[in-house]
Amino acid sequence: MTSDSGTAPSPEGGPTYHRVARSGQVPEGYVRRFYVGEHECAVARLNGTAYATSNYCTHLDCLLSSGKLVDDGICCSCHGSVFDLETGDPIYPPATEPIAVYPVREEDGEIFVALTQSDLEHGGPRRRKLRRD
Ligand code: FES
Repeated sequence: MTSDSGTAPSPEGGPTYHRVARSGQVPEGYVRRFYVGEHECAVARLNGTAYATSNYCTHLDCLLSSGKLVDDGICCSCHGSVFDLETGDPIYPPATEPIAVYPVREEDGEIFVALTQSDLEHGGPRRRKLRRD
């Protein structure tokens, strides 16, 4: 899914909040893929709270937006790794490295994700980049 990349105010020097979706686009128990420019992230809703993470599993780069939500995390559809949605830590193997997690703000029916300039520069379509290298 695409976003209109609207922005919301952020603390000075901190990451900038970007509008990624309407709240209704991420229903309870679902994870979906959104973009801020070239940056790809997975946005999920669990127990009413919206979470944003990198869309790439740290095991072998499968798309987490193709996975599903389980008790307290996001499960990769390829080999079953589960990551904590709040910390990004792997809580079930085979992945051993955490995924990136991003602050989320939900206001007036809109979901905003906070990204740094570094996130924006390194969160692009990883698979395409790897093929070009
Ligand atoms: S790529 Fe996600 S568990 Fe293997």
